[in-house]
Amino acid sequence: MTRKLIFAANWKMNKGPHETEDFIKSFVSNIKGEDLTCEVVIAPPFVSLSKLNDLLHEGNHGIQISAQNCSQFDAGAYTGEISALMLRELHVKHVILGHSERRSIYGESDEVINAKLTKALENNLKPIFCIGETLEEREGGKLEGVLRTQVTDGLKGISDRELAEVVIAYEPVWAIGTGVTATTEQAQEAHAFVRSLIADLYGEDAAAKIRIQYGGSVKPGNSGELMACPDIDGALIGGASLDAQSFFEVIKNGLVD
Ligand code: 13P
Repeated sequence: MTRKLIFAANWKMNKGPHETEDFIKSFVSNIKGEDLTCEVVIAPPFVSLSKLNDLLHEGNHGIQISAQNCSQFDAGAYTGEISALMLRELHVKHVILGHSERRSIYGESDEVINAKLTKALENNLKPIFCIGETLEEREGGKLEGVLRTQVTDGLKGISDRELAEVVIAYEPVWAIGTGVTATTEQAQEAHAFVRSLIADLYGEDAAAKIRIQYGGSVKPGNSGELMACPDIDGALIGGASLDAQSFFEVIKNGLVD
């Protein structure tokens, strides 16, 4: 089974519309003439989505747009929230859900994340569903239990057809923004385990098809070895995606067999 690699830039709370424009100008000149055999996604803050859409529309560069969050509700008295339907209006294709920063800083539970996944899918947004353990959980021998709960509870009620629209991102919390990357063995082992969870829940065929990105201190120097792992199907990149050249190199190096 060959799965198309998917590289997604998670800019977190960085780059307003001006910086988004600067980035896209450089990045587009980086990828010009390159035959990138992968999907490329950029997830800017909400306020830059419209600008990003305009910029990408001008040149039809094949770059897809993602949001970093969406509400679990349709509309109404939810101050500060953005609905999945509003994102669709801005031509957003993906939405990152369940990121560890949303879980730990904003207290999002598996139940809330499940409601958001459900709402995103109802509105034809493709979730990038993040899971991952803390260092304490890993060292306490809880890795598999944590991943099982996050996957099972996060995907509750999601149909086989809907699952086909989901990308999973395995992001060990201890590797995010720390410069410490999981070793290829650690990453491959966790990815294979997540795929086995999907096989238990949805069958072998769905498990073989679903893409599982790795995230956590991915950079140009390690993306090649990570992408060479059989169960790693792309990356969700934070810090190294903020610079156009470095994001380009992560992708380029990751595409080398
Ligand atoms: P870093 O690449 O900065 O470690 O961030 C990873 C991440 O959280 C992507 O969602």
